[in-house]
Amino acid sequence: MKTLLLSAPLLTVALALPAIAAEKLTYYCSSQEDWCQLMADGFEAETGIKVSMTRKSSGETMAQIKAEADNPKGDIWWGGTGDPHLQAAEEGLTVAYESPMRGELNDWAIRQSESSGNKTIGIYSGALGYGYNEDILKDNNLPVPACWKDLLKPEYKGHVQMANPNSSGTAYTTLATIVQLFGEEEGFDFMKGLHKNINQYTKSGSAPIKAAARGENTIGIVFMHDAVKQAVSGFPIKVVAPCEGTGYEIGSMSLIKDSRNPENAKKFYDWALTAAVQSRSLEVNAFQVMSNKTAESSPSAPDLSTIKLIDYDFAKYGSSDERKRLLKKWDDEVSTLPR
Ligand code: G6P
Repeated sequence: MKTLLLSAPLLTVALALPAIAAEKLTYYCSSQEDWCQLMADGFEAETGIKVSMTRKSSGETMAQIKAEADNPKGDIWWGGTGDPHLQAAEEGLTVAYESPMRGELNDWAIRQSESSGNKTIGIYSGALGYGYNEDILKDNNLPVPACWKDLLKPEYKGHVQMANPNSSGTAYTTLATIVQLFGEEEGFDFMKGLHKNINQYTKSGSAPIKAAARGENTIGIVFMHDAVKQAVSGFPIKVVAPCEGTGYEIGSMSLIKDSRNPENAKKFYDWALTAAVQSRSLEVNAFQVMSNKTAESSPSAPDLSTIKLIDYDFAKYGSSDERKRLLKKWDDEVSTLPR
C-alpha cells in the first residue's frame, strides 16, 4: 500500500508528459548549418515547441520530401535555393499558405509565392559568383580570374571546385545561369570545359569555398555571400562577381503537404518572416538580402544593385520538367567526361 501511494504522483507526471511532448516541429533546413541551428534554437526558445532539425542541400531535401510523400515526416522546409521549392510546389509536395506577414515583404518574395500558387515564399536572395584563395593563387602563379570564361583557362586545372547540381541548389543555379547567359549549346560547352578544371564536385553548395578558406582548394563557385562569410572570418578569400553577369537565388520556404504538425509549421513560417528573426542572420554572418523590407543588412553584404544580374527565369528553371532535363543532360554529357 505504501509503495502504491508513493508512486501515485509519479504516475500523474508520467501521464502529463505526452501532452507536453506533442508540441513539436520537424524542420528541414537547406541553408547554412549555423543559420539553420540558430533558427531552430530561436523558435524553440520563443515558443517552447520542440524542434527536430535535419540539414541537407536543396536538391537532396526535395528528393527526401518526394520519397516521403506517402508518409510525410517533415513539417516545414526552410531555406535553400528557390528552384527545387518551385518544383516541389508543382509536384504537389507542398501546400498553399498566405501568411499575414506578406505585407512586410519585398516584391520578389511575393512574386516567388504567386508563381507557385502560394506554395512557397522568398525568404532571402543572393547572387552567384565565385571566390578564390589569394595566397594559393599567388603561390601557384595563377592569374586573377574576373569572368566565368576565365575559369576555363588550362592553368586552373585541378584548382576549381563546385557542388553537384543534383544535390546542391547552388550548383543547379550555376548550371541554369550558364545556360541562360550563353545559350544551351554554348552553355553546355562551357560546363564541359569547366569539368576539365574541376577537382571535386561536392554535395553541399558552400563546401567549395569552405575548402578554399582551409587552403584545400583554390577557386570555389558559390553564392557570393558564402564567399564573403569566409572573408570576414579572416580567411584570404576574394569574392568575384563574374564580368559577363550572373544569376541569383530566391532562397525559399514551403509547408510540407499532409504534415504531422501543420499548425506549428505555420507558426514557424510567420515567425521566420518577421524582421526581428531575419535580422538575426547577421549573428551567423549570413549576408543574403532578407525578404522582410525592414530586416537589418550588413555593410559587408554583396550589394546586388552593383552586380550585373541576369533576368533569371525562375518559372522555367524551377519547373519540374526543365530541372530534370537539365540535370539529366549534365549527368549524361558532362559528369561522365574524363578530366
Ligand atoms: C548556402 C547559401 C544559401 C543557399 C544554400 C543552398 O547555404 O548560403 O544562400 O540557399 O547554400 O545550399 P545547397 O547546398 O543546396 O547548394
